[in-house]
Amino acid sequence: MNGVPVIVVHGGASKIPDHLVYESEQGAKLAALEGYKVLKSGGSCIDAVVKAVSSLEDNPVFDAGRGSVLNEAGEIAMHSLVMRGDTCGVGGVACIQHARNPVQVARIVLDESPHCLLLGDAGLKMARKHNIPEESVDYFVTEHATERFKNFGEYVKAVNGIYNTKEHDTVGAVALDCHGNLACATSTGGITAQKVGRVSDAALVGCGGYADNESAAVCASGHGEAIMKVNLTKTIASYVEAGLAPKEAIPKALKKMNSRVGGSGGAIALDTRGRWGVNFTTERMTWARIGGSDVSGVDKKFVEFGCDAVNIKKECVRL
Ligand code: GLY
Repeated sequence: MNGVPVIVVHGGASKIPDHLVYESEQGAKLAALEGYKVLKSGGSCIDAVVKAVSSLEDNPVFDAGRGSVLNEAGEIAMHSLVMRGDTCGVGGVACIQHARNPVQVARIVLDESPHCLLLGDAGLKMARKHNIPEESVDYFVTEHATERFKNFGEYVKAVNGIYNTKEHDTVGAVALDCHGNLACATSTGGITAQKVGRVSDAALVGCGGYADNESAAVCASGHGEAIMKVNLTKTIASYVEAGLAPKEAIPKALKKMNSRVGGSGGAIALDTRGRWGVNFTTERMTWARIGGSDVSGVDKKFVEFGCDAVNIKKECVRL
């Protein structure tokens, strides 16, 4: 082992209601732990982020996998992306239904297809060859998602409601493994009342996620259309490549997004030195980090906004 293993996960940037704060933070910590176990046993960063995001997708508290919100037709349509920083390989799925873990399907697209993104049934067909679990609609639709659909109804109201006042959006994980490689994984059910066929930023490289060993691994959460317009995660990675620390790059990019296109959101980022950051312009964002010191948070007042390079020697002793 010749590097420092670190994982950072998030469960969405938004105004998380008080009654969901505890469950959200616990869910993020559990997902980070699941991913970290992979890293600790010498596993790859791509395996770690898929494991962590699968845990978040299985948790009905989050808007991804089980717990996904409903589109304008009252249906589930999920989106996910994985990217590895050693090869810049990308796999994504958009508007996929029935796959219990869209992130696992995105991984199959990465490993087994010459493409970066498959739409709808195309991803599911590939997943079937691998016996990726499928579920009926009832599995995905929570009481909470149904209530949101009734309350928000229209997409614009949902965007204003989610990011400016309430609720969860998107999950993600970034990891650095013992071999010094970076990866990211992002997953979402999108935004309540989104049009049938809308593709989320969470499926698009450089928008909901980006990973390159020469810059950083980054995951974003927030209003997808705003994130797409400024290529939020690629922008953050480019700032890191230009010399900023992840903890400096995220707020700079969020500020740019807000001033250019008016959106709000949040992001996590990690580089090959183990420097990491989390920041958000929404009221809350759930996140957890393991590797070096283990930390987590939801509110800004609890957030340690990132750190400089972790102590590599100390970290390898932990392994
Ligand atoms: N960030 C989630 C979405 O806009 O779909």
